[in-house]
Amino acid sequence: MSENIFKSALNHSNEGRPPVWFMRQAGRYHSHYQRLRAANSFIDLCKKPELACEVTFGPLDDFGFDAGILFSDILFPLEAMGMGLNFEEGPKLDFQLRERADVARLKGGVALAGHLDFQAQALRLIRARLPADKGLIGFVGAPLTLYYYAVEGSHQNLDRSVKRSAHEGLRDGRFDSFCVKLLDLLAQNMALQARAGADCVALFDTCAGELTPAEYRATAVPALQAVLERFAQLCPGVPVVYYSKNTGARHWAELRGLPIACLGIDWNHDLPTVLREWSGEFAIQGNIDPNWLFLEPADLEARLRQVFASVLALPADIRRAWVCGLGHGVLPKTPEHNVRLFLRIQKEMFS
Ligand code: CP3
Repeated sequence: MSENIFKSALNHSNEGRPPVWFMRQAGRYHSHYQRLRAANSFIDLCKKPELACEVTFGPLDDFGFDAGILFSDILFPLEAMGMGLNFEEGPKLDFQLRERADVARLKGGVALAGHLDFQAQALRLIRARLPADKGLIGFVGAPLTLYYYAVEGSHQNLDRSVKRSAHEGLRDGRFDSFCVKLLDLLAQNMALQARAGADCVALFDTCAGELTPAEYRATAVPALQAVLERFAQLCPGVPVVYYSKNTGARHWAELRGLPIACLGIDWNHDLPTVLREWSGEFAIQGNIDPNWLFLEPADLEARLRQVFASVLALPADIRRAWVCGLGHGVLPKTPEHNVRLFLRIQKEMFS
């Protein structure tokens, strides 16, 4: 069977089982990843194309997901811009954008995309090995989320002073001057992934929910629009999946008319309602709570059966644009047997 249900779902035309993949399906919870990670740094796993390819295939081979996602990280463009990057205890940049003068230290522009060529190399290897019925996902961070990480400098939970600083930067020009340097690079980063074989590019906007809908409209959306339009010029027709967290209908309404094929939603939403109300405009991806994967298997199974039954009760045309997945990434320490159970129940109920 060579039908690619992932690509069909992004086109609203999937007549088969809804495709399933998880953000962070290759990661610390998985013994395959742990084995490779014991012998290699995270940076090497990302930057050595053979290793990145190997990590990407771990969850595909083990659990049977319908799409692979490039093994990499959203922070590499910041490294290319001169912020340094190490992952010794979680990601850490060499400096933070606390003042406008810090932004002046950054490099910018398309030429920096050469620093990200390791992603293209990995994608070409993955593409060569990937069966035709599986999708291939590239990804970058959305401008706002990259900005938050650049202000924060690490992955410590955003504390109040950092949040305030990041927020002030939306008004004092820091975000705008950061974007002047970032946006062409980011569009070029997406393009190099698409040209190397990604079927779609995901934009992760994990920090979007830090903004009210009005702030989001005034700041994050124009930056997002600029990247999407530049990418659409570079790679016409390549679908974009936009994931945001802690957002809702008032945020999503601001995305109308942008070249976004699919909206990834977090778990704080009733899936059938979102599918009914939004799948005419966007394919919908999500949105099982990643914490459910820590439940006793019988409990997990019961909850999944209930959600999947509620989707099966919808008119079939609504399901054509659904990509089944989580409302965020797989958490470290997630038991593998529950990932396996998720895939088994999903395939059983929708086949
Ligand atoms: O989905 C996949 O399988 C691809 C891999 C992937 C990683 N990071 C690998 C990774 C993806 C899609 C990302 C995206 C990413 N990275 C985001 C956006 C999505 C989200 O999670 O909200 C963000 C904000 C980052 C930045 C980042 N990188 C953080 C916050 C961390 C530490 C948290 C963690 O899970 O360890 C990283 C490191 C990182 N990125 C690891 C992995 C597998 C762990 C590295 C290790 O210690 O082995």
